[in-house]
Amino acid sequence: MTVDTTVTVRVPAKVNLQLAVGPAREDGFHDLVNVFHAVSLFDEVTVREAGPRSGRPDGSTSPDGGTLLAELTANGRSVSHLSRVPLDASNLAAGAADLLGRETGRGRPVRIHLEKRIPVAGGMAGGSADAAAALVACDRLWQTGLPREDLLRLAAVLGSDVAFPLVGGTAVGRGRGEILEPVASPGRYRWVFALSPHGLSTGAVFAEYDRLRPDAPAPELSTALRDALAAADPAALGRALANDLQEAALSLLPELERTLKTGASAGALGALVSGSGPTCAFLVGGGAEESSVVAEREAAVVASLEASGLCEQIVRADGDVPGTVFV
Ligand code: C5P
Repeated sequence: MTVDTTVTVRVPAKVNLQLAVGPAREDGFHDLVNVFHAVSLFDEVTVREAGPRSGRPDGSTSPDGGTLLAELTANGRSVSHLSRVPLDASNLAAGAADLLGRETGRGRPVRIHLEKRIPVAGGMAGGSADAAAALVACDRLWQTGLPREDLLRLAAVLGSDVAFPLVGGTAVGRGRGEILEPVASPGRYRWVFALSPHGLSTGAVFAEYDRLRPDAPAPELSTALRDALAAADPAALGRALANDLQEAALSLLPELERTLKTGASAGALGALVSGSGPTCAFLVGGGAEESSVVAEREAAVVASLEASGLCEQIVRADGDVPGTVFV
């Protein structure tokens, strides 16, 4: 049997079709009903064996004080987005290598390279996606062969959104978002995403949510959304899209309201802030619609967003797509 010395994993971004947020819990997190939908915007994460060494060049250590197993590099098209990628212990991909190494006792020093296409600090769970990819890549590289349920458990320890990219498709996350259950969604949909030149911190958006909605009710799955997905009805899906964090994201970055209105006026079937933002997502068609109808709507939405001058970049994607795959 040949042993890999380099492993590359491709991992998708997500958009939330519904993000219902309950009140703050005692641990500071919020109970969620989080309908994740994986879309065809991918990061590629490559993990390589690194020679043994006594420490990182910058001397950084893992959160428990041990020497970090991973050295990180990143590349991507957007310079402003790349500048927001931490290359130290605070990057969840490094945390994933450390956690798997500690859990199995078989960790070895690695170099992790992140090829970024998912917006950074954009509400599309790019950092969580990289962590999920690093986890499965290290599992293969170190031949630790953890069962899927153990990988999902470790992913949930790393962050609320890390388990979903291992699974992909469309799924409801409950608890902090990490307790996943698949949702019947036979349709394929077309999306346009408007990337902002700014980033928003997830924690800051949740804090703003607590300020604006101190009496938030317990979150519940929208039956309109579930029915729209089951029927693969793009118009009903567009109407059912909902994000409780949107008001908080708009409060922190008011210009997002104009972005949402621009895409909606141009004919998008639905428009919402993705996760904690600031990326705005526009549903432009799918299901049984003629591809020419979808293409025309997509072109109108893209043209209006481009003309608005509000977006750093506009990207198109399909959903849903599968989770992590080895390249
Ligand atoms: O779990 P993760 O590290 O992705 O969460 C980032 C931040 O988002 C948390 O520190 C917390 O402020 C907020 N959060 C929350 N409730 C959740 C998920 C995240 O308050 N269910």
